[in-house]
Amino acid sequence: MQTLIGKPVTRQDAKLKVTGAAKYSAEFALPNMTHAVLVTAPVGRGTIRGFDLTEAQAAPGVIKIITHENTPKLREIDQKSAREAKASFGEFRLPFQSPDIVYNGQAIAVVVADTYERARYAAALVKADIAVLPPTTTLHDALEIDEPKGKRAQSERGEPATTFGAAAQKFDETYVTPYEHHNPIEPHATLAQWDKNGDLTVYQSSQSTSGPQATMAYIFELDKEKVRIITHFVGGGFGCKGAGAWAHDIACVLAARETGRPVKLALMRQQMFAGVGHRGECEMEVQIGTDGAGAIEMLSQKTLTQSHNDQPSFFETAGLMSRLMYRAPNYEMEHRVARNNVSPPIYMRAPGEAPGSFALECAIDEMAHQVGVDPMEFRQQNYAAVDPESGLPWSSKQLAQCYSRGAAMIGWNARQQQPRMIREGRYLIGYGMASATYPGNRSPAAAQCRLYADGRAVAGSNGVDIGTGAYTIFRQVAADTLGYSLDKVIFELGDSRLPYAPVAGGSQLTASVAPAVVEACELVLQEVAKLAVADNKSPVFGRSLEEVGFRDGLILLKSYTLKNEPIASVIARSGKPFVEACCRAETMASAKGNEGLKQQNNAPCNVVEPEPETDQNKEKYAFHSFGAQFCKLRVDEELGTIRLLDWATAIDVGRILNHRTARSQMLGGIGWGIGMALSEETLYDPQTARPVIRNLADYHVAVNADVPRIQVEFIDTPDPHINSLGCRGVGEIGIVGVAAAIANAVFNATGKRLRELPLTPDKFV
Ligand code: MOS
Repeated sequence: MQTLIGKPVTRQDAKLKVTGAAKYSAEFALPNMTHAVLVTAPVGRGTIRGFDLTEAQAAPGVIKIITHENTPKLREIDQKSAREAKASFGEFRLPFQSPDIVYNGQAIAVVVADTYERARYAAALVKADIAVLPPTTTLHDALEIDEPKGKRAQSERGEPATTFGAAAQKFDETYVTPYEHHNPIEPHATLAQWDKNGDLTVYQSSQSTSGPQATMAYIFELDKEKVRIITHFVGGGFGCKGAGAWAHDIACVLAARETGRPVKLALMRQQMFAGVGHRGECEMEVQIGTDGAGAIEMLSQKTLTQSHNDQPSFFETAGLMSRLMYRAPNYEMEHRVARNNVSPPIYMRAPGEAPGSFALECAIDEMAHQVGVDPMEFRQQNYAAVDPESGLPWSSKQLAQCYSRGAAMIGWNARQQQPRMIREGRYLIGYGMASATYPGNRSPAAAQCRLYADGRAVAGSNGVDIGTGAYTIFRQVAADTLGYSLDKVIFELGDSRLPYAPVAGGSQLTASVAPAVVEACELVLQEVAKLAVADNKSPVFGRSLEEVGFRDGLILLKSYTLKNEPIASVIARSGKPFVEACCRAETMASAKGNEGLKQQNNAPCNVVEPEPETDQNKEKYAFHSFGAQFCKLRVDEELGTIRLLDWATAIDVGRILNHRTARSQMLGGIGWGIGMALSEETLYDPQTARPVIRNLADYHVAVNADVPRIQVEFIDTPDPHINSLGCRGVGEIGIVGVAAAIANAVFNATGKRLRELPLTPDKFV
C-alpha cells in the first residue's frame, strides 16, 4: 500500500512560502497590539545602580518601561521542579529580577510603545548607571572551571594512560573551534496576548510548541491548558529556538501582562548575538596510541569548553563521538567547562559532534598519515562492529558502505597519499574525508487523524516544521497509511492544542512522530470500519472487522474487493462531520512484531507528554546514524585561500521518507559545515565582552559561491528497531565531519596541518 513514502514529494508549504502567505511569528498582528524593544547591557559584568527613564518615558508613544526596579518578581526557577514540569530555559536567570549584569547583551529593560519605531527610539533613551566590573570572555580567563559528572561528561574504559605510554605509535595534539552563532534567517520573535480569562496565547519562533507551553505555564504559574503556543512556520531553528523560553520571550509575555495589551517583540539581527545561545569555544586534546600494525589501542578526547555561570546543564559534549566511533579498547573522555561572561551557550546543529568531529577526525587523519596508510583504510581497520562503549549491537549500521560509496563518488583513487603531489597551475589540489555520526534519537509523541465526509483527511501533531519538510513527510506518511491521494491530505503542526510532540531538535521529530501518525491513521480506519459494519447501506454491513479492508480511499471486503464504496460516503451517511482517532507512540517499536511498542490508542487528542517508559529496545541496541564526508579542494598557497571543488557524502539514516527533503537537510548541514570550516567565528571585545561581530556581513555564513557541487547518496536501509517505519533523523548529521574533511584535504594539498577553525588565510602563515 505504501507508494508515497520515499518519493521526492514537493513541500506542502512550498507555495505558501514562495508567495509570502506563510506567516512567521513576527508577521501576526492582533487588535490593539503594541510593540516592545529590549534594552540590553552594554557591559559584560557589573551591577545596575539605577535607571534614568525621564527622557525615554517622555518619548512619543511610550506605554510602559519595565526594569528590575518596577516589575513584580517572577517565580524563581528551581531546577528540579522545572524539570518535572518539562519547562526548559536557554537561560535560567529570568529577566528584570536583579540589578546584576553577567553578560553583554543581557536584557535589562523592555520598552513598550504604540509602534515599533517609537519603541526602538525610546529604548535608545533608557539610561542605566552601572558599576562596571572587568568581564572574562575566554576559556583561559574564566571565572571558574567545572568538571561536570555523568555519562555524557566523563567516560573511561580499559587502561588509557598505561596503554598510551606503551603504544608503538603515539599521537597527541590539540584542536580549537571558536564561538559560533546559529544565525537563522528568521530572527526570534514573540507575540503575546492575555485574554480576560487569564488565558495566554503566544506566537513564538520556536522548535516546539509543547516546550514553550510547559515553560510559560511554569514561569507564570498557570495550568498548561491555559497556555496556547502557535508556531506555524520557522525560518531556521538549529537549536537556538529549541529552549522553552529565552529572556525576550519572557519579557514579551510579561509586558503583555503588565500593559493589558498584546505585545510583539522581534529581535534585531544584532541582538541575535547574545541571549539566544551560541556554540561555545572548544579546545580539544586528542591522544591516539596504536600497535605496530595500525590498530588503535588507546584513544582519548579531553575538551575544555565555554559555558556561563547561569547555565548549569548545557555544554558542548565534544567528546561523545570519540566514545563510539572506533574500536578502541582503552579510552578516556573528559569535559571541563569554563564559566565566563559570554552569554549562555545552547545546542547548535549537532551539538558536541560538530566541533568534536573536527578534532577526532583530523586526529585520525594525522595518525593514519603517521602510520602510513590511506585514512579511509585506517578507519575501516578500526571499524567499531558493536558500540564500543556499551558493547551493544548497532540497531543498523551501514558505515562501511558509506565509505565505499563516498569514495567512488569523489574519485578517491585519484588521491595521492603524500601531500603536495597534485598541482594545477598556481593551485595545490587535495582530497580529504571524515566520518560522521549522530545519535538515532526518538521520544514519545502523539498524532491525530480526522477523516471528513467530503473526502479530506486532516492529520496533525503539535511539533514544529523548522524548515526541514516535516509538514510534507508526515503528510506522505498519513496519505500512504490511509490510502488517500496526497492532495486529499493536510498535515497540521505548530499549535500546542494538537497532540503532543517533542521538540524538533536532536534529529528526533521524524522518528518520533511518524510512527504515531501511522498508528493514528490505522486507528481512524478502524473507526470507519466500525461504522460501516453497522451500516446496512454499506457493502461490508454485518461483516466482522477482520474482513474489512481499505484501498485508495475505498472501504471494501478483503475477500471480494469489487464490493466497495468510498470511505467518505460511509462517513457522510453517519451524519457526523468527521471520524477521528488519536494515538500516542511511547517507546521504541520494532518492525518485527512491534516488540517494545506501547501505545495508548484513542486517548484524548490533547494528550500531554507521557512519562518516558523503560525502553526495551534501547537496552538491546545502540541507535546511531553514520556517514562519510569526502571533498576535493584547491589551495592558493600565496593567498592562503581555500576553494572547494567537489563534495560527496554517503549517509545512513535508516529509511528515507522523502528523498527531496532529506537531501535538502544534508545540503544545509554540509553547506553550514563549509562555513564552519572556512569563515564562521564570533569574536568578543575583551574590555566589554561585547560580540564585535554581530551582523551577517562580518559573520560570514557559507553562500552559494562557497559551496561546490554536492553529491548525496543515502544508503536507505530501514533500521529494523527504531520504529515501525525504520527511519532515523537526518537533521544534524550533515554538518558532522565537514570541517575535518576540509582540514584533511588542506593537509593533503599543502602538507600544512591547521588545527584551529576557521581556516582563514592568516592561519597559513
Ligand atoms: Mo538541534 S541543535 O538539537 O535543534
